Amino acid sequence: MQFSMFYPVAVASESDLGKGLYGLDRDRYDTTINELREQAICADESGWTSMMFAEHHFEIEGYHVTPNPLMLNVYLAQHTKRLRQGQMGLVLPNWNPLRLAEDIAMADHLTGGRLDVGLSRGYQPRSVGVMGQHYKANAAGTGSETVEATNRRIVEEWFEVMRRSWTEDLWDFEGEFISVPPKGLQWNHPISTRLNAGVSDGNLMQVATVPKPKQLPHPPLFTTLTQSPETLAWSAKIGSTAVTLAANLDIVKGVFQGYVDLAGQHGRKLGFGEYSKKGGVALCRNVAVARTREDAMETARQGSAFWTHWLGEFGFFEALRMKGQEGPVPKTFEQMVESGFQLVGTPDDVGEQIQRLKEELNVEYLIFIMYGGITEHARMLETIQLFGEEVIPKFAKPELAIA
Ligand SMILES: Cc1cc2nc3c(=O)[nH]c(=O)nc-3n(C[C@H](O)[C@H](O)[C@H](O)COP(=O)(O)O)c2cc1C
Repeated sequence: MQFSMFYPVAVASESDLGKGLYGLDRDRYDTTINELREQAICADESGWTSMMFAEHHFEIEGYHVTPNPLMLNVYLAQHTKRLRQGQMGLVLPNWNPLRLAEDIAMADHLTGGRLDVGLSRGYQPRSVGVMGQHYKANAAGTGSETVEATNRRIVEEWFEVMRRSWTEDLWDFEGEFISVPPKGLQWNHPISTRLNAGVSDGNLMQVATVPKPKQLPHPPLFTTLTQSPETLAWSAKIGSTAVTLAANLDIVKGVFQGYVDLAGQHGRKLGFGEYSKKGGVALCRNVAVARTREDAMETARQGSAFWTHWLGEFGFFEALRMKGQEGPVPKTFEQMVESGFQLVGTPDDVGEQIQRLKEELNVEYLIFIMYGGITEHARMLETIQLFGEEVIPKFAKPELAIA
């Protein structure tokens, strides 16, 4: 099995959050980055597979201060030796796809080929509606069919542009939202003409995005999935690993089986629960580990503020609905623990909780949301180290750990 960490990147502690506009605080951001670096080094030394970061914009409230996860990826790769770097995920409609493809290719080299790429549709209108305004984009889940359809068309078109950027030498593309290159653009340089660099009669006909990524054909892909069948189908089609947060294991099984069936339709044979660099499935959970159960509960409780204050208002507790649970899902720490979303306890306890997930789901890839910045730094290090040194070895096949 492989185990990765996904950070929202908060800049204030559980007791401070919600009381001030901490996103504006330069010193708090410095502290968060310094702590992240120490946590990355600890994860690197203790067997974790990767560290992923969210993308959010304008979060003055301080819950996610992470407008460009790729910059964190490159920075942290310089301080680690084997830990992979990823995003959960890059919000495609917020970007120009050509720049994003270039930045990813550069980051892949700058991390020494340790980059994973997370693809997201974005759920915050304040982020996607502002950043994606040039393409009339808005967030997923607004309730408007037009917005939803536009968001999907942009995401799919952007990915196609990125795929060509990474895998084709010289290429052109005529899409709904972007033309590459636009028609009638002149480029007369004699060297370009002599080398056949996409020029014909002084007109630019094709472009090549450079550099190409270090990994072939491109870094492994992950897609964040809430529960939409369309996103699952798209992930299977493009060979991206679908990441689900659902607490109800029947729903998780449906997602896992759906992926197997859909990938099969595209000629890819996968086992139930399988992860592969060419696409598969992964399960997202919380984890808190300490020497005593009481301490682990306190670590878990601190991090849960991120859900109870912030994520809960965006409907994320719906993913934690238990089998047979009726009515609104309580936005509480107890719900997180009782639904099984929060793994918590001593290394032995958490090992048993993972063993149960493995037996039921055959899952090979777990991603834990890590509340650095919110949870005390010492508690974060304790969870990372104890989990890495005492739980991962029970499940890791060393030769596959970074495969
Ligand atoms: C594990 C996970 C991480 C996510 N991270 C982000 C993020 O960093 N930024 C963001 O805007 N949306 C994020 N989202 C939300 C997605 O962008 C998207 O709105 C949601 O997954 C839509 O799911 P659907 O396509 O199944 O409807 C995340 C979702 C999940 C499940």
